Amino acid sequence: MNQLLSFRFSEELSDAHQREQFRRDVMAGLNSSPKRLPCKYFYDERGSQLFEMICELEEYYLTRCESEIMTKYASEVGAQIGPRVMLVEYGSGSSTKTRILLNHLEDPVAYVPVDISTDHLVKTASLLAAEYPNLEILPVYADFTKPFVLPRARRKPTHAAVYFPGSTIGNFEPHDARTLLQQISILCGTGGGLVIGIDLKKSIPVIEAAYNDAQGVTDEFNLNLLHRINQETQTEIPIDRFKHLAEYNPEKGRVEIFIVSRETQTLTILGQPIDFAAGERVLTEYSHKYSIKE
Ligand code: TRP
Repeated sequence: MNQLLSFRFSEELSDAHQREQFRRDVMAGLNSSPKRLPCKYFYDERGSQLFEMICELEEYYLTRCESEIMTKYASEVGAQIGPRVMLVEYGSGSSTKTRILLNHLEDPVAYVPVDISTDHLVKTASLLAAEYPNLEILPVYADFTKPFVLPRARRKPTHAAVYFPGSTIGNFEPHDARTLLQQISILCGTGGGLVIGIDLKKSIPVIEAAYNDAQGVTDEFNLNLLHRINQETQTEIPIDRFKHLAEYNPEKGRVEIFIVSRETQTLTILGQPIDFAAGERVLTEYSHKYSIKE
């Protein structure tokens, strides 16, 4: 029998509040120098779909590699986590890799996917609820960079463990990554655990190809941010006057992803004229790569 799903929505994520926040963040980013746009806004419905497609690309080795590691070590990881856990996933998306882990947990009490894409969260939670009738699914619609409260499960878990795959931690600058790890340790509390995926430094062409695929899916994913601005602010940014750029910065140990203006132009966004120089870059995301030592 299917379970009834109840969703927990954090206060700041009411529709109106979110739309307002989006506008404020976009305008603040475009008015700063150098310009930037927050990467969390990639994940509207279309963006989430495109990201799923990225994860299946030949060049995007991260997902494949992480699934291999999970498959190989799932029993060990499951044993480490221990019985009756509340498993909390940060940025759960479609929870594909999660199944590998769930299948190796001993009597898990609840699965708590946390995501800022509602559509994804609803779909994934319903699918998982059907697949795992004995596992309580407690989706939380929240921005995991801000502290949030864990939902209460019907059965009492012995501890909580966070699952944070996909090298999403790499999308934070080192200082913010540290803060996030501290928040995770507070959220889990004593006896808690963390299973995290972090992409390692490797040859530059391999890294750069993962963010510049031949089919152009990554281009579309990056530029989808402009589509989203158009949709949510009734603007008409001509997308074809911009292009995707991703390059590895060896000093900083990170891929830097930009939307680049192809020409000198002034666009009116939310009533304000914004100037772009030809070749000007708008930073949309960093993806830090770490060494084992780091
Ligand atoms: N967490 C992913 C990563 O750092 C996000 C990502 C993958 C991404 N491909 C991208 C972000 C392309 C922007 C553009 O690998």
